[in-house]
Amino acid sequence: MYNLLKGKKGIIFGALNEHSIAWKVAERAHEEGATFVLTNAPVALRMGELNELAAKTGSQIIAADATSIDDINNLVEKSIEILGGKIDFVLHSIGMSYNVRKGKHYTDPNYDFTTKGWDISAVSFHKVMNVLYHKKAMNDWGSIVALSYMAAQRVFPDYNDMADNKAYLESIARSFGYYFGRDYKVRVNTISQSPTPTTAGNGVKGFDGFTAYAEKMSPLGNASALECADYTITLFSDLTKKVTLQNLFHDGGFSNMGVNDLVMDKFIEDK
Ligand SMILES: NC(=O)c1ccc[n+]([C@@H]2O[C@H](COP(=O)([O-])OP(=O)(O)OC[C@H]3O[C@@H](n4cnc5c(N)ncnc54)[C@H](O)[C@@H]3O)[C@@H](O)[C@H]2O)c1
Repeated sequence: MYNLLKGKKGIIFGALNEHSIAWKVAERAHEEGATFVLTNAPVALRMGELNELAAKTGSQIIAADATSIDDINNLVEKSIEILGGKIDFVLHSIGMSYNVRKGKHYTDPNYDFTTKGWDISAVSFHKVMNVLYHKKAMNDWGSIVALSYMAAQRVFPDYNDMADNKAYLESIARSFGYYFGRDYKVRVNTISQSPTPTTAGNGVKGFDGFTAYAEKMSPLGNASALECADYTITLFSDLTKKVTLQNLFHDGGFSNMGVNDLVMDKFIEDK
């Protein structure tokens, strides 16, 4: 390991189980010398799996529903107390669509579900930054990262309203990132990750299909959760101080592909 985060303090949202991208980020951040608080929604903590990660990384857990400003206020205040100072890095690794979960089609959603999913998956990022910004909770040259998916730019029908939520999330990173950069020298970025077999990922209809397709189309193959964690660590480190307002593709090259030999051969065979 490289001690890339030695002495840095953070808050990590969204580790649910060992498959979660946030779980891998926590493990890697610990290996790189960071201390941090782990947080998730109260309902997710009931399963108790996060205790294992907390023990392994010497972290404390604070429950927070990321749609509640009161919960986020409490989280940020307690984190500063526990960690003994302001925050250097924050990971927002949160996504949920009730329309996906309840099998509602994109063309005929339940709009209460749409609003709830948008609040959880996108607006929560604004709320987290709102609290961090107004409490002046971030150290200079800190780094805030949220996780996104390419359905924000291209059509993946089964990704449903999460595509719209991700587009909104990426826009928040740019808009809030401007104020964070100008006022606190803090950078804000999103990482657009390959399809990854996690609880959220597997919840999307047709997930195996588009994972296999992306794997075949990407010159480097799909990026794993651990590889995503490695990339996230670089964005939390001092090696990327001037990277901000970006949506950064971490997908083995998939996002810039048009067609490749394998796909061409398949279509020629089928003709
Ligand atoms: N898995 C993929 O294919 C993939 C690809 C690109 C981006 N992403 C994104 O990565 C992020 C992490 O997802 P993951 O794949 O690790 O799955 P995951 O299911 O392990 O993580 C999603 C997390 O969101 C948390 N969450 C849900 N509602 C919440 C709330 N109200 N308050 C606080 N936390 C809440 C869940 O408890 C869970 O820990 C998400 O933003 C997801 O959209 C995933």
